[in-house]
Amino acid sequence: MARHLITSAIPYINGIKHLGNLVGSQLPADLYARFQRGRGNEVLFLCATDEHGTPAELAAAKAGKPVAEYCAEMHAVQSKIAEGFRLSFDHFGRSSSEQNKVLTQHFAGRLAEAGLIREVSEKQVYSNTDGRFLPDRYIEGTCPNCGYDKARGDQCENCTKQLDPTDLIDPRSAISGSTDLEVRETKHLYLCQSQMKDQLEEWIDTREGWPILTTSIAKKWLTDGDGLQDRGITRDLAWGVPVKKGTEDWPGMEGKVFYVWFDAPIEYIAAAQEWVDAGKGTDWERWWRTDKGADDVRYTQFMGKDNVPFHTLSFPATILGSGEPWKLVDYIKSFNYLNYDGGQFSTSQGRGVFMDQALEILPADYWRWWLLSHAPESSDSEFTWENFQTSVNKDLADVLGNFVSRVTKFCRSKFSEAVPEGGAYGPREEALIETLSTRIRAYEAHMEAMDVRKSAGELRAIWVAGNEYLQDAAPWTTFKTDPEAAAMQIRLALNLIRLYAVLSAPFIPDASAQMMEAMQTEDGSWPDDVPAALQLLTPGHAFTVPDVTFRKISDEEREGWQERFSGLRS
Ligand code: 2FM
Ligand code: ZN
Repeated sequence: MARHLITSAIPYINGIKHLGNLVGSQLPADLYARFQRGRGNEVLFLCATDEHGTPAELAAAKAGKPVAEYCAEMHAVQSKIAEGFRLSFDHFGRSSSEQNKVLTQHFAGRLAEAGLIREVSEKQVYSNTDGRFLPDRYIEGTCPNCGYDKARGDQCENCTKQLDPTDLIDPRSAISGSTDLEVRETKHLYLCQSQMKDQLEEWIDTREGWPILTTSIAKKWLTDGDGLQDRGITRDLAWGVPVKKGTEDWPGMEGKVFYVWFDAPIEYIAAAQEWVDAGKGTDWERWWRTDKGADDVRYTQFMGKDNVPFHTLSFPATILGSGEPWKLVDYIKSFNYLNYDGGQFSTSQGRGVFMDQALEILPADYWRWWLLSHAPESSDSEFTWENFQTSVNKDLADVLGNFVSRVTKFCRSKFSEAVPEGGAYGPREEALIETLSTRIRAYEAHMEAMDVRKSAGELRAIWVAGNEYLQDAAPWTTFKTDPEAAAMQIRLALNLIRLYAVLSAPFIPDASAQMMEAMQTEDGSWPDDVPAALQLLTPGHAFTVPDVTFRKISDEEREGWQERFSGLRS
């Protein structure tokens, strides 16, 4: 039995994510985790909320809540929505956990001992009224380029020009509005990634079969301009992991925290500890320490392309630099962006369909199927309501749903609610079994390779093959002249429903569970042997006719949703 450690990029805590975020990491990670479990492998699937940094502080301030309270609430909200989408995390952790704090401080200590951290003096804006240093985006003023009076210290939202806080005319604190600002010296820690360039480059170059999207982004950062830069890993913020060297204080770093991108990936490890501490597992080290059994683990990370530099360079620099036997990632599956109806999904602008809204209008499987079968793999892809309607109505309702309904209802009306006997499978059935065997092996290969769209295409073809068989065999006609043969055809078709339930579970888990329940079986074993899998439900085995598996989306509904989601979410 293989062992798979699977992580999805951890979503920021500030607000509910949109469907583009979902398809860029959590959903394909879930698909892979479910597939590996379905094949009988051991899986640890982890995710968490990314709770530190300026965005969390700003969102909490906007909500008028203390940041810790805001994060706790939003974690509960995100957890509930993840359950709604049937994301099967073994643990959904929090980067603000005690475990992550200890581990982050531990890594910093190890990196310092290895001579991989240097202190740098910088000038930064200090607000006397607020009694704190202000990160660039906490400073507002007038843009020197376009005159917009709410430009931020890092960028002008109006003309998109990148700015330094000192460029702003009449700068003020975004927290208090105070103009009593001054530039002060402050010290920060830098991770000496440049010292590790050769080691990282060699590591990237020896990764076999990594997607081009992943390696090209990593190589660009390694070689562009002056090559890999050292990276500031501390911030003057109140909310975050306090800067310490292991368990010791770090002189000069009082009141500072680690940069959110330093502690966020460490949460992948901390989440495994949280999983144990929550009583859900017993041994996290056998997943994460190569000296404690993790060398036979296959570790796969899922993420959007904007996250790739942090996972191919910064996090490996932390792990390798520690000099300790931590498990490094084996495969990084990255995604392009999903666009929304002629533009971009945007959290800050509230454009597109957000996860909570999606579940309000249709069950998770409808979304899972569309998103995964249109995953932005080789290029960006686009959500349109027309395309969504067509996919749901054709693939799910006409092909799969209709098959289940026709077969079960026909059997109930002409035989009974039990698998009929009939004779042995004939040439037409053998031909179908052969086609299915070839296609199922192809489906497994695509799923193993995490080719999400190709997997969906193959699964759809497997459903279509069953429909074509049914159309061709036409048991409703056969029944008139040869009820025995019709019984055999229906016996095969009922077995196909169970087979479809098993194969489709990674994509559409609820429909799959409904089909298994209708077939009154708990045998979800993977069809390694397809002919045997199609004999599994034996004559006399009782079943029930399920409710509609998938309903169609009407033109009126589609138009209504198109209208409802055309504006911006407030
Ligand atoms: O881009 C994002 O949503 C980040 N919160 C992802 C962090 S992934 C990891 F490193 F933890
Ligand atoms: Zn401007």
